[in-house]
Amino acid sequence: MFDSDRFIQEKTTELANTKENTIIACSGGVDSTVTAILLHKALGKNLHCVFVDTGFMRKDEPETVKKIFNTLKVPLTIINAQTRFYEALKGITEPEQKRKIIGKLFIELFEEEAKKVNAKNLAQGTLAPDWIESGGQLRDTIKSHHNVGGLPEQMNLELIEPVRDLYKDEVRKIGLALGIPNEFCQKQPFPGPGLAVRIMGEATEKRAEIVRKACAIVEEELEKAAEEGKMTLPWQYFAVLIPIKSVGVQGDARAYGYTIAVRSVESVDAMTADYSKVPHEVLEKISVKITNTLKDKINRVVYDISNKPPSTIEWE
Ligand code: XMP
Repeated sequence: MFDSDRFIQEKTTELANTKENTIIACSGGVDSTVTAILLHKALGKNLHCVFVDTGFMRKDEPETVKKIFNTLKVPLTIINAQTRFYEALKGITEPEQKRKIIGKLFIELFEEEAKKVNAKNLAQGTLAPDWIESGGQLRDTIKSHHNVGGLPEQMNLELIEPVRDLYKDEVRKIGLALGIPNEFCQKQPFPGPGLAVRIMGEATEKRAEIVRKACAIVEEELEKAAEEGKMTLPWQYFAVLIPIKSVGVQGDARAYGYTIAVRSVESVDAMTADYSKVPHEVLEKISVKITNTLKDKINRVVYDISNKPPSTIEWE
């Protein structure tokens, strides 16, 4: 049995020895938020929480993040870096290259921010599956999770990863013990590179807008269906943009648009996952809403019925 109180006590005591200023990358997700609150407990005003708006965030994400940190009374600096990310990803289609570019830009931004606050350490909410799947000497690289594999070899900041040996369910328990609301602790995971890895191929601003809207619809409809008792809320659920055109018909005119794949999985620790058995009537609602909302862009919606392994949860 994982003892969250003991973990918090031991970690904060250990971290309290950190005298230098520390900067933490907050994504608004459970892992980095729990890490930030844990570190704030140990470091107080020596901790600087930074949120980077990459332009690949979910709908309303920056606003939600601000609100949560406000409620938890932890100061948060927001960096608007959308244009820099869109520029850096121009013409890049290979998934590992995308992840590495995003990771590198993150670090650059943090180094810039760290200079401003004279930080010597960079904290991250890396979990065990992140570094296990990022490879290393003993394991194959499945994908470079951006808080691990994207780090440049020469980094001027010391890395602090207080939850790196933990799994998602354990981090959620710590969050609760730290007083973070249950609703927030149960929030589904969101990848570090954000919507960029939910756009197959080149991740442009226009494509980000499409997948952001589709993701919001998937979230809205599945949460509604769960509230209405039609199903239980899946572990993780989102949309993926496949920017390959197929032929359709809208009204009596020919349509030629992209495809959205709906992904919904059940898991405990993200190491393995089963696709969710979402009722067909719910899937149909999602499909109709996506094609209606994104009329001129999407004319086909498919459901991903693959487990992990052999697939991964995200498509890139
Ligand atoms: P995969 O796609 O590898 O994802 O099966 C496993 C879990 O990790 C999330 N994920 C990430 N989380 N940085 C993160 O912090 C990343 O780069 C990253 N990539 C994937 C994914 O959403 C799933 O929950």
